[in-house]
Order: sequence, then structure tokens, then C-alpha cells
Amino acid sequence: MTNLDAQSPFRLDNVDAYQQWRDDKYQNYPTHSDALFVEIKDPFQISDAEKQAITQCIQRTNMVIYQTNCNAEENPAIPAAILNQMTGGFQADHNPNADENGVTALTVNDGPYKHYIPYREVPINWHTDGYYNTLDRQVCAMVLHCVRPAFKGGSNALMDQEMLYILLREQNPDYIAALMKPDAMRIPARVGKDGKIKRPESCGPVFSVGTKGYLHMRYTARKRNIRWSEAVEVQEAKSAMESILESESPYIHTLRLKSGWGMLCNNVPHNRDAIKNDETVGKRLFYRIRCYNRL
Ligand SMILES: [Fe+2]
Repeated sequence: MTNLDAQSPFRLDNVDAYQQWRDDKYQNYPTHSDALFVEIKDPFQISDAEKQAITQCIQRTNMVIYQTNCNAEENPAIPAAILNQMTGGFQADHNPNADENGVTALTVNDGPYKHYIPYREVPINWHTDGYYNTLDRQVCAMVLHCVRPAFKGGSNALMDQEMLYILLREQNPDYIAALMKPDAMRIPARVGKDGKIKRPESCGPVFSVGTKGYLHMRYTARKRNIRWSEAVEVQEAKSAMESILESESPYIHTLRLKSGWGMLCNNVPHNRDAIKNDETVGKRLFYRIRCYNRL
């Protein structure tokens, strides 16, 4: 997934293009979450003006927070319609718990996936979605639609991968070289109790450049079932990256989605704090769709 042509700002030997791109990116970069909000009146018929506002926000920050009046309507077609209109038709990454359209209902329950972290109340550390997918099935975009927030907690922190790249490259370009190594981060295969491989190994870089020249990120802060390259330069780069993600950087947006709101993004790194449900007001319910198309 690395397509570094001569003009790419992501080439380390292309300092002029990088600096120009960096300066453009810094210009008017929002440090307040309000700048990420776009209203959508009818999610099944997004107006041209709304589309333009969404596209501009995503071009600037790789993410947008849409606000609909759908409130707590339990209709998975809402995020599917939004993603469909904004991608011009998407190819969903179907995880086992997704419906036929690729929509996964994320809620704490006693179902077969109850041990998986999105279905629990515990915090979820920094990651990009589908980091364990093989390199030919990388999740390029996703939507998280809030039907009902948690009684308490459940905020998300979000960081544009391009800003993270810039902050790291400004510290030390060697960090970028290390995180682009093809063996930087390895997720071992998942083997079922029957000895069969349920998910193949995924080994690849943290930062890569997709066919259209965009920066893609693949990352998890989890410590178990992951093997980072032991090369000193990769370890140092990983520490530097994690220091930024754990910092009070003005480029990290922390917000709590309300009923009818959603986050649409080019799979930016994100986390979620712990949640506390109260059955009397209904459990937190989010719909998630991951796709191979970029916004
Ligand atoms: Fe996620």
C-alpha cells in the first residue's frame, strides 16, 4: 500500500513538497471541535451545500461530525445512507457481527461477542479500525453513528493521522522512516480452538501511502497479541508517537456524540473512554460501518 511518487509530500527526500503541504495543512487547522460539526437535515438526501461542507471538513481534517435530527431512531440505514452518499457507493468491510449492509450494532450485551472490547464498558485505547486486517483489506473510512450515548462516559478522542505524521516528522524524520517499515507492526494470526486460522497474520507499516497518494495509518496501542519490530528505530518512533497521542495536543479532538450525531472519517486514530450504562434510560447504542473506500 505504499505509492510514493516523485511529487509525494510523504517522501522524506521531498522536503519542499512536504513543507508546502505541511504549511497548507497547518493553515486554519481547527483546534476546537465545533469546527468539525456539520448539520444534515435529511440523511437520506444530503443537500449539495451539506455535502460540500462535509467534504471541505474532511479534506482539512480527515473527519467530520454530522448532526442529524434522527435522535434515538434505531435505523442502521441512516449511517449507511450517509456513507453511501459521501463515498458514491462503498464496499463494506464485513466483520462477523455486521448485518448484510456491513452495519455493526455496538452495544454491551451477552451475545457471542461480549468479550470483545467494543461490546464492553471498559475504555478502548488508541487504534485505527481494522488494524488487524491484511494489507489488501485495509479500512480506509468509517462511520460511527450514535443512536444513544452512554449514561456516563463514552467520549471519543480523535486525531487526524496527517497531523500526527507532521508532529512526528517535525520531531525527527527518522521516526517516519521507521514507521513506514514493512515489518513495523505485526498482528499474529488468530487461531480457533479447532486449530484453524480464523484471521491471517497482518504485518505491515504504521504509515503507508495508498494508490491515490493519501496517507493511511494502521495502529493499535494494545499490548497483547501484537508484535512490534524490535528494531531500535521502530521502538523509538513508537514511543514518540504514543507520547503525542497521550499528550494534551491541541490537534486531538475529544467529544461526546449525542443521539442522531455521527463521526465520519478517513479512519483516523481514535479512542473511547469507559462507559457506564443505565438500563432505565437505555444502553449506549452505536452503529459502525467500515469500508475500503476513502472519503
Ligand atoms: Fe474504533
